[in-house]
Parts: sequence; C-alpha cells; structure tokens
Amino acid sequence: MKPSNVRIAQIADLHFGRDVPAVAETLLTELREVAPTMIAVCGDLTQTAAKAEFEAAREFLDKLPAPALVVPGNHDLPGWRFWSRFARPWRRWSTHMTSDPRGAVVHAEDGLVAVGVNSARSWTLHHDWSRGRINMRQLTAIGAAFDGTPRDDLRVVIAHHPFLLNEAGLSRGLVGRSGLALRHLRRRADLLLGGHLHMAYSGIVDGLVVSQCGTALSDRLKGGEPNSYSLIDATGDRMTVATRRWADDRFETHDSVDYVRTDHEWRTA
Ligand SMILES: [Fe+2]
Ligand SMILES: [Fe+2]
Repeated sequence: MKPSNVRIAQIADLHFGRDVPAVAETLLTELREVAPTMIAVCGDLTQTAAKAEFEAAREFLDKLPAPALVVPGNHDLPGWRFWSRFARPWRRWSTHMTSDPRGAVVHAEDGLVAVGVNSARSWTLHHDWSRGRINMRQLTAIGAAFDGTPRDDLRVVIAHHPFLLNEAGLSRGLVGRSGLALRHLRRRADLLLGGHLHMAYSGIVDGLVVSQCGTALSDRLKGGEPNSYSLIDATGDRMTVATRRWADDRFETHDSVDYVRTDHEWRTA
C-alpha cells in the first residue's frame, strides 16, 4: 500500500497581546496555500493569559484552514495573579480553548497519529517556573494513543517545552523528565514538536526527530531570529523539516533538513 503524505504546519508562541497583525494575517494566507493535513499549535498562545488575549487567540484559531491540535504554554497561566495561578490555573484556558489541559489531546487520520500534552506547570520545585515538565500519566496517555495504530503511521507528540536545545538555548533547560520521556518514546514515536525558545531548529534525539519552531507572529523575537513557523512533510520513511521565516512581507524557506527512518529510528539523510 502506498504510504500517505502527511504535512504538518507547526506554529508556536503566538503571544497574543504582543502579536504583529500583519504577520498573523500573512500566516493565515500562507497556511491556506500550503494546505497542511494538520496544524500543531505548540503553546504560549497569549502573553499574560488575559481575557482579551485569549479572545484574540480564539479568533485566530477559528480561522485556521486545517484541524488544529492546540496545547498550552507557560504564558497561558496567570503570571503573578497568585490566587488564580494556584487555585484555578487553567480557568481562562478552559473557557476559550477546547483542549483539556489536564488530559491528552489526540488527532488521528490516514497515516498520522498526533498526541498533545500540556507541559506547562503552575509551579515547580525549580526556581524557574517557566520551565515545564512531562509526567508519567501523560506518557501513559501518549502510549495508549499510539497502541493499536499502524506502526508506519507518523506518530507525533506535541508539547510546549523543548526536548532538544540549540546552543543559544542551553541555559533555558529541557522539559523536566525529558530523559524518562525519551526512554518511553524511543522507537514508539517519530516526531516531537515544541516551542518556548522562540528559535527554530530540528535534530535527532534517541532516534526521534525533534522540531522546535520560532515565534510565529509575536514581536518577542529571540536569538536574532525573525518570526517563523515550521513545515514538516512526511511520506513513509522520509521526512523534511523546513523553517519558513518572515522576510519583509512574506514567509520564505530559510532551511530544510531531510530525515530517513530505518527500523523505527530516524537519522539525518
Ligand atoms: Fe513563548
Ligand atoms: Fe514558553
């Protein structure tokens, strides 16, 4: 049987409240043109989890031209509003978004199984509460979503915090319990998608492809990078991760990396 073509548009760190309207409008036009199978929205939809920011994010999501799998980021929690942060951290998220921040979101279709989990935490033992974490309950939910699906399907895990750091992001830290997660996901998953660092790159960790995308449409630029999103094309045992960067008034392909899969493990082509 011919393998399915899967095209994922990966967007993150929209940060409504700090959005650039012209970039947002052009991104919507571009997404209509590239016609992805699915859009992975990797968290930080808002800047301060304010009601108006969630409303703007909701309006944007409603215009997306393909099924979207949406997970929260640390900015989608009430920042210094401590009562809200501890007592009802996901109240606003739940009012405006359809995904349950306490569960796993699954999107499955021909040739693709994608699972989204919430890696943001309202508090952690680490002094930097912006760092996220994956827990065993979430790993079990991911495994359950993958079990029983054809192994040749593209299996994707979507979170906000990174499973792979670039040089400029070393001080920001990996998602908590990334080692446990990778042991769990090795040879069971294909692709891990994240955001948070506002820098775009991809690479291999433990036989999995990791794609980190930039901030899609906010002015919170990091590492000297402009706005960007990532476009991932997979067919059978081949995958290409391309970064589409903002240049003046449109998105252009900045780089493109090819990966191949052998015996359920990926490597750079
Ligand atoms: Fe962010
Ligand atoms: Fe973040």
